[in-house]
Amino acid sequence: MINIEQNQTELQGKNPRKVLRHALKNYDQVAISFSGAEDVVLIDMALKIRQDIQVFSLDTGRLHPETYQFIEKVRKHYKIDIELLTPDYKLLQALVKQKGLFSFYEDGHEECCGIRKVEPLKRKLAQVDAWITGQRKDQSVDTRQNIPEIQVDPAFTTDSHPLIKFNPLVNQSSAQIWDYIEAYQVPFNTLHEQGYISIGCEPCTRPVLPNQHERAGRWWWEEATKKECGLHIPK
Ligand code: ADX
Ligand code: SF4
Repeated sequence: MINIEQNQTELQGKNPRKVLRHALKNYDQVAISFSGAEDVVLIDMALKIRQDIQVFSLDTGRLHPETYQFIEKVRKHYKIDIELLTPDYKLLQALVKQKGLFSFYEDGHEECCGIRKVEPLKRKLAQVDAWITGQRKDQSVDTRQNIPEIQVDPAFTTDSHPLIKFNPLVNQSSAQIWDYIEAYQVPFNTLHEQGYISIGCEPCTRPVLPNQHERAGRWWWEEATKKECGLHIPK
């Protein structure tokens, strides 16, 4: 039985490469969750450790055209497969039939995110032992301050399927991530050139003004404390 608390003590405050190396060397079935934004650095770093990495993106059907183009660019640039996970069509058709395409503006994003992101993620995570995310503390002062480098997944672990979650970028600042992108000539989503910092689905993401926090551009019609979509919050 792996002692996650002991691993966390060892990995706490370590640089992203050390955390990634631990994840990729100790877990065979481990997948990187790539949003199509600056978390591309995880792919760049991971390929320097192991060639046969698993990468997936949640294709909500509502991403920006630029994000789809970027995912394709990353696939070709690194010569890797990127698994695109699509929502369950029956659940999605029922939602759209009943509530239309923009119900999240009226009754919140949880339902749509639940169908377009969380359910497909749950299906994928049932097939792996561990996953790797690009979450960082500086992405949200409200919801991301206590994230560890390694944890038993607080949302998707079940009695029959323990799941480990790695957050190698947790202590990195946005500036450090962009330094890495510049230094290693990592491809990036062109939306970042148009004022977008945090990038999610097109109807739920907008550019931010100077000095606004990046999270202000996500689900801007909702309270700051609700700006999580269910990928990273405990059940
Ligand atoms: S979200 O929960 O608000 O949408 P955010 O955009 O901050 O998440 O991204 C944090 C991390 O969640 C990403 O680095 C990535 O690991 C994962 N993630 C978010 N959106 C997706 C997506 N569409 N596909 C795959 N992973 C995602
Ligand atoms: Fe739906 Fe918006 Fe959530 Fe995307 S971010 S899944 S469009 S509510």
